Amino acid sequence: MKGIIFTEFLTFVANFWGEDMVDDIIDASALPSGGAYTSVGTYDHREMVSLLKALSTRSQCSADDLMQRFGFHLADRFAMLFPDFFHRSDSFFEFLASIDDYIHVEVQKLYPDAELPSFDVLQTEGPQMMMRYRSSRKMEALAEGLILGCARQFRRAILIEKSDGGDGSTLFTVTEIQA
Ligand code: HEM
Repeated sequence: MKGIIFTEFLTFVANFWGEDMVDDIIDASALPSGGAYTSVGTYDHREMVSLLKALSTRSQCSADDLMQRFGFHLADRFAMLFPDFFHRSDSFFEFLASIDDYIHVEVQKLYPDAELPSFDVLQTEGPQMMMRYRSSRKMEALAEGLILGCARQFRRAILIEKSDGGDGSTLFTVTEIQA
């Protein structure tokens, strides 16, 4: 997993819980990298799982809940770091469809060793869009937080339903609600 995800995660932890929590979870996780991440480096994604577990124990929040909150934070950061990925879409659903078709394609060019999930649009009907998330890393909680955070960038209020898509995939049904 790319270092940018780790550096953003540690910034997220420092913002909410303080620098001491960052040191604590790094010490508790016995990480092969030692917790010294650079944004362009690549690290075992299991280091993220270890850090998350350590944070979950100390914050009394579930790992899924933390991952979702991190996804929300990451969406804000992506909007700051990669504004063009957001501005090129006229609507939130167009943006969601562009994750697989454009955004992650460009990300792969930027970071050739990035391991990206697939995120297929299955159906769009009125205010509802159904997508299938597939990844061996099973970070659907991160995906959910990212979708929620990106909806906020587009000033859209949404509901997300998750269900088992079979074959290890997850279905997301995203519904825009009128404000
Ligand atoms: C908007 C700009 C976006 C950028 C620049 C971006 C970039 C990235 C990068 C750099 C990674 C790490 C890949 C690796 O570590 O090897 C990643 C992973 C991921 N991205 Fe995106 N992404 C964006 C939007 C989204 C959105 C909106 C979603 C919502 C579903 C999403 C879902 C994910 C997930 C779930 C992962 C974790 C890896 C996995 O599931 O296998 N991304 N993305």
